[in-house]
Formats: sequence, C-alpha cells, structure tokens
Amino acid sequence: MIRFDEKNATFTLEGKGFSYVMGVVDGVLEHRYFGAPIHADDDLSLFRGEAATSFEARVPGKKSQNQILLEAPAYGRGDYREPMFLLRGEEGETTLDLTYAGYRIIRDHKLDGLPTSFGGETLCVTLSDSVRGVSVELFYTVFDDCPAVARSARITNTGAGKITLLRAYSAALDLPDNGYELITLHGAWAREREPERTPVPHGVLSVDSKRVSSSAPLNPFAALVTRTTCEEAGDAYGVALVYSSSWKIACEGAQNGTTRLTGGINDFAFRKTLAPGERFDTPEAVFVYSDEGLGGLSRAFHDYARGHIVNPAFVRRPRPIVVNNWEATYFDFDYERLYPIIDAAEGTGIDTFVLDDGWFGRRDNDSAGLGDWSVNLQKLPEGLAPLIDRCHARGLKFGLWFEPEMVNPDSDLYRAHPDWAISCPGYEPLLSRRQLVLDITRPEVRDHIVAAVNRVLSENAIDYVKWDSNRNVGELFSSASDACDRECFAHRYALGLYDLFDRIVLANPNVFFEGCSGGGSRFDFGMLYYFPQIWTSDDTDAGMRCRIQYGTSLLYPLSAMSCHVSVCPNHQNGRTTPFATRCAVAHLGATGYELDLSRLPEEERAAIKEQNELFRRDEDLILSGDLYRVADPFAGKAFGFLVVAKDKSKAAFTLVRLFGETNAERLIPRLPGLDPDAAYRVEETGEILHGDTLARTGLPNEFTKWGDFTAAVYHLTRL
Ligand code: DGJ
Repeated sequence: MIRFDEKNATFTLEGKGFSYVMGVVDGVLEHRYFGAPIHADDDLSLFRGEAATSFEARVPGKKSQNQILLEAPAYGRGDYREPMFLLRGEEGETTLDLTYAGYRIIRDHKLDGLPTSFGGETLCVTLSDSVRGVSVELFYTVFDDCPAVARSARITNTGAGKITLLRAYSAALDLPDNGYELITLHGAWAREREPERTPVPHGVLSVDSKRVSSSAPLNPFAALVTRTTCEEAGDAYGVALVYSSSWKIACEGAQNGTTRLTGGINDFAFRKTLAPGERFDTPEAVFVYSDEGLGGLSRAFHDYARGHIVNPAFVRRPRPIVVNNWEATYFDFDYERLYPIIDAAEGTGIDTFVLDDGWFGRRDNDSAGLGDWSVNLQKLPEGLAPLIDRCHARGLKFGLWFEPEMVNPDSDLYRAHPDWAISCPGYEPLLSRRQLVLDITRPEVRDHIVAAVNRVLSENAIDYVKWDSNRNVGELFSSASDACDRECFAHRYALGLYDLFDRIVLANPNVFFEGCSGGGSRFDFGMLYYFPQIWTSDDTDAGMRCRIQYGTSLLYPLSAMSCHVSVCPNHQNGRTTPFATRCAVAHLGATGYELDLSRLPEEERAAIKEQNELFRRDEDLILSGDLYRVADPFAGKAFGFLVVAKDKSKAAFTLVRLFGETNAERLIPRLPGLDPDAAYRVEETGEILHGDTLARTGLPNEFTKWGDFTAAVYHLTRL
C-alpha cells in the first residue's frame, strides 16, 4: 500500500512485514525508515540527519547533504558519500541538485527494454534540477505478499543541451546506523555462489562484474546484517539486481555513523549521452527486509521471485523431469548412441529428453559450428525427426540446446559475417572456449539469431530449450555503433539480450525455456524473468551441490534451480557419492538426470522410478514451499533443508552428513517453521511429534555415520 501524507510531506510504503518511509524537507527527498512494520504516522522527522556542527546549522541557505539520509543521492550538494548519479553537462559541470517535483501512482509499470517486476503498485516520485535540465523519476514497486520494494530510476534530459550519465545506479538505501556486516555470494565456474560475510568498514566496500554477465565470481546481490543476525533471527536487508550484464553494488560506512547501500549498472566503462528529450531507464534493484535472519531474507526473495518475476504461466506448473545427454555422451553421439537413453527413460517418470551441445553445424567438439543452427547431418543424417519420433513413441517430450549469442570462427556464420563477432580493431579477437560472442547490440545480428532459432523451433516439435552461454565478453566494442554508444556497450548488450528473449522466449509460449551459462554463471532475476529455471552449476557432484544449492538459495527459490543426478565417479571432481544422496540433493530443485540411463545398474534405474514418484508427489513443496536452511555445509558437518508447505500441512526434511565419522557427535538440527500446535507424522519412522517440539528438539534420527555423503529424507504430514 502506498500513502502520501500531504501535511507532513511523507510517503509511506507498507506491505507484508515492512514499512518504508520517506519525507520531503526543503525540496530534498529524505529517507526516514525501512524495516519491520511501525506506526509510520509517528513523527519520523526526529530521525533526520543533523548538521555536523552547530556552526553549519546556523549558516543560512541550503545545508550540505552529507548528514542526511537520502533517497536519490547525487553529486555536488555536499554529500560526499557514494552517489547514485553522476552526470556531466556539455561544459563539464557535474553538480546535480534534485528537488521534489511531484508524484503519481502507477499500475503495470514497465521499464524501457528491461525485465520489470509485475503484480505490484508503483509509486513514482519525480525530482528535477531546473538548472541542469534533468528530471529523475524514482520508481518504488510494492507487493501485497512479500517484504520487497523494487526500485529503479528514469533519467530524462529536459534541457536544451546534451547531458552525459557517468553513473546511473538503480537506487540507494541509507540506513541510520552502522556496524553492519555485508554478505555477498562469490564463486567460480562449477563452484558458484558461496556466501562470504565481511564487516562493513568506514569507507566503501564494493562487489561487481565487468564480464557483461551477472557472472559466477560474484552474484548481483548483497545483504546487510547486524553482527548478531543468524539463520533464523536478526535484521537483514538484501538487495538484488534484476539485471544480467555488468553490475556493481557498493556499501559505504559513512563518517556520520550511517550506512549506504547503492548499485546498479556498473559505471566501469559506462557513459551514456542523452540528447534533449531522451531518457534512460535503470534496471530494478529489489530490496527486501527480514527480522527473521537470513532465512527470512531468503523466504522474502523467494516469494518475490515466484510472485513477481517468474512467468506466471510456468511458476507453479510441474516442471519437466529431463534426461540430458551431455554427461552421457558429450559431443560423441549419433542415433544409435541416443536411442538407448531415450528408450531407457520410458516408464521411469522422466518425461523429457534433452539433446545438448553438438547437434548442429560441423560440431564434433567445441572448436566449430556455433552459429550454424541447422542439423549436423554427419551425425544425424535424417535430422532431428527420428529422435523426436522416438521420444514421442516412448511418451517423452523433446528438448534442444542452443547457444544463440555465440559463434565459432570455424563456422559458416563467421565466414559470412566476421564483423558480427565482438572484437577490438587492431587486435586478435579474444577467444574463450574457442568461441567469440556475437555483437547483439546490432539489430541485424539479433534479427538473424531470432530467425535462425525460431526456424528450428517452428520446423520441429520442440517442447523445451536449454539456452546456454559459455563465455564472458572481454572487449567492449561494436563495429557498428558510434564512440558514444560503445561507452555503454555492456548495457547495450543487456538490452540486446532482453530483446532476443522477448522475440524468442516470450514469442514461443508453449516451449519451456531453461537458462544456462557454462553452468550457473548467469543466475539472476533478469534471467528468471524469462527462464523459470536455470542450470545451477556444471558441477553435478552431490557434495559440491550441497554447497552450491545452499548458497544459491540465499535469494533464488528452489524451483529456479535445475538439479540433475549424474554418475560416479563424478565427472567434475572424481567423487563417489551414494545414488540415494545424489537423488535427494537433485530433488531439492527442478530435478532431472545427466547420465546414460541405458548403462545404469537395474536397481538404480528402478530407484529412479520410485524417486520420481516421490518427487512428483511433493513437487508443490519445491514450487511454492517455504525454505528453512537447518544445517550449513560451509560451517558444519552437514547440509540440511526443510521445506514447509505454505499452509504448514506438510514438510520435507533432507539431511546430508558430509563425512563419515567414528564415534560422531549427534546431528539433530532443529526444525523451525512448522505449525507449533499441530502434530506431524513422520512417514519414514512413524513418529508423531508437534511442531513446537520439532522446532525445539529437532527430529531424533538414527542417521548413519558410516561412509561419506550419506543422506536421509523425512516427510512430515500434519495430522
Ligand atoms: C555448459 C553447460 O552448463 C553444460 O550443461 C553443457 O550444456 C555444455 N555447456 C555444452 O557445451
């Protein structure tokens, strides 16, 4: 709900579990409060920043903004903290004085060319600088069902000369106190999203990506927590960007004891010139608040994502259970190699066969063929039809892999259009995985990709697409644009990408699209707007997956994570884990298989059928349940997820003991989140225990200490 108190010039945003208050004082839009619900009509001006010295307070005229909590900090009016905006005029002037000009409330707000949260109510506050000829609209979208505020900004040149944006972040949040710790998610290929917690110093601490991708090394997310915040208690503020290209998030401990969190498009190599009348939209930054620690923060993000980012047509629909041939065959396949996998899937509960990399062009390894989206007739002389028919005959759907943004130098596409690949004039093009990135900032390149991919989709019965992207962009240059445009190349790439998604993903509503980027290197809310699920990591080892899925769950819901069972020894790290553990961990997301089903021992194939029946029975927990992380694999000896139905009628508890131990300590995590007064029956043990008991004592178990990576799954049903 959005309220404006005209008398006190105060805006109040309220929703489930939070209040957000700001006020206008002397034309400046000040931040007052963000946190647990309060009586927002109380006089919050008491919390205003004060002049640093009594001397400054006595000086007539506008005060320095350095002491104030600001909603839209700019540079040039005495605020020396990290600004949200930095603009340069034609004469090189950088001062920007944003003054309140009005507000309006919008339904169905949509940013230009960018994925935008839906299903909320949006407050738009307009600020302007008449000297510079700049108007800034600040958008705040709030929702009934989660403590989240999606913020962004639209900057319009209302003057007569050109203005250049040197920084245009999405939002800033000034908190009135300090002493916070910053939690970020760092990682690498096959080791994505490991939480890291660092005290916020006086000064600026920032995380970013310069890879023209949201990236594996750092995820576009940060949380501020107090020193005592833990998994299920304490204050936590999170921010995540609805954005898939280069980004930055900065956190500043300021001299006056306040803390600022700001970020958005990375201002590295960024510059955007606006002619008179032109405007620029920043991507959304979503802020959530929790007073239930990191668990509450995650549940807020999960509700936000499922309610306001992921396509409603798919978000709660049972997901395809796939078998993917990548780890079964890699590039080495033909009909005879693939048919047994398809045949073996029949009757197991697997419902989709996905043909991965290698089906097109002259693609026998990663050195050739990318960009040539017609069937590799040497491998598959009669095209895709025999495979699709085989799938249909076995009751399966058919899925296909694409990497539309890429090209190999050894491809017909590159030979015809070498200038379509991104490179910097005078230098050898920068290869990675022996491929180049297509310059999708160019409309003709996008038109070609759209036509090529949509042709394959329209000529074949394809139900599922895996959209991969296996390298980062290393050179910020387009041979088609002018020098100005090149200076915001990374953002133009994002706009090109979203245009492709609009014209391929949204234009094929009957196809289920899965996102992927060399595993989980582009896992962000911008991608989730188009892809209901994303391949979480190329690391399919259950041990590593405990860590990766744990870190990913900090802000992304379980239903967003594709998680597959693969063979042992694992192809990424050589580890052997029990088959049951691999299933248990892969069933904590959109599940599937990444192996040669025809070569599995019969007892494992039979187990798949049983496992899939169980998965389907409780899939609603994965699609819409509340997650409680009850054992942290980074901190302790176990990994534990409890997923509780929204109405608390049932829950599933998965526990993995990482290493076998002799004379081991007890491992009985407490299970919060159930109905305290209700009795639950534990399906596997027959025990009956109340929710409050489980929250205080945990679930007694005879959990094995024998061997590494052993798992147990317990199903709890309310009586
Ligand atoms: C990276 C993906 O993450 C893998 O699953 C597989 O699709 C390969 N690319 C294919 O090149």
